[in-house]
Amino acid sequence: MARAKLIVGNWKMNGTAAELGEIAAMAAAGADLPAHVTLAICPPATLIDRARTVATGRLVIGAQDVHAAGHGAFTGSVSVAMLDDAGARLVIVGHSERRADHHETDADVRAKAEAVLEGGMTAIVCVGETAAERDAGTTLTVINAQLDGSLPGSVTGLAVAYEPVWAIGSGLTPTLQQVGGVHAAIRTNLVARYGDAGEAVAILYGGSVKPGNAVEILAIDNVDGALVGGASLTAAEFLGIVRAA
Ligand code: PGA
Repeated sequence: MARAKLIVGNWKMNGTAAELGEIAAMAAAGADLPAHVTLAICPPATLIDRARTVATGRLVIGAQDVHAAGHGAFTGSVSVAMLDDAGARLVIVGHSERRADHHETDADVRAKAEAVLEGGMTAIVCVGETAAERDAGTTLTVINAQLDGSLPGSVTGLAVAYEPVWAIGSGLTPTLQQVGGVHAAIRTNLVARYGDAGEAVAILYGGSVKPGNAVEILAIDNVDGALVGGASLTAAEFLGIVRAA
């Protein structure tokens, strides 16, 4: 089944007004992309509103995290409605840095994903094994457990990102065969869970995607896009990856 390609940049805790020109440059180049490619950038929450104003055309602005509740006494958090109000149209949930640094559980991630989908936005649910889990031969067990615990009940607007923890920011990537194997297993899980609708869910690969490896990664069966950290910070590098799609 042919699927569109979704290329998402995650700026993490990087970017101030000085970097808005990078987003403007991405938006300008994005206008010429073929229709099957969707380009998105997730700046820090403080920049979403201003990013939206420079993101003309088809560049989607997203967020890196959200609180599952609609409002209330949650100091420092933002809700789906707030992100929507600021101009975000997709939200990354359950990134391994949130799971590790902020002790987010699968149940937390699922609640966030449910809130994002209920808000009419796209939710990118992240899963991925650690180096120790891969070495122990438990990669697929870990991934399936994360999917079973983190995926929402409804499927409209859902995307999944496979991000091996050891590949993030390390310059290391799994072999193409390993990526293909995990993505096929994720597809099987999605179809078992959602039926035919599971075939249409985008499965992104993330972890040290660069312009130099994007073509071969994006050509793998069931790799429907990429979640890009470091290489999404400049328009020049990010657009190199986008061109691979
Ligand atoms: P990286 O990060 O591209 O810098 O490895 C990917 C991610 O954390 O989403």
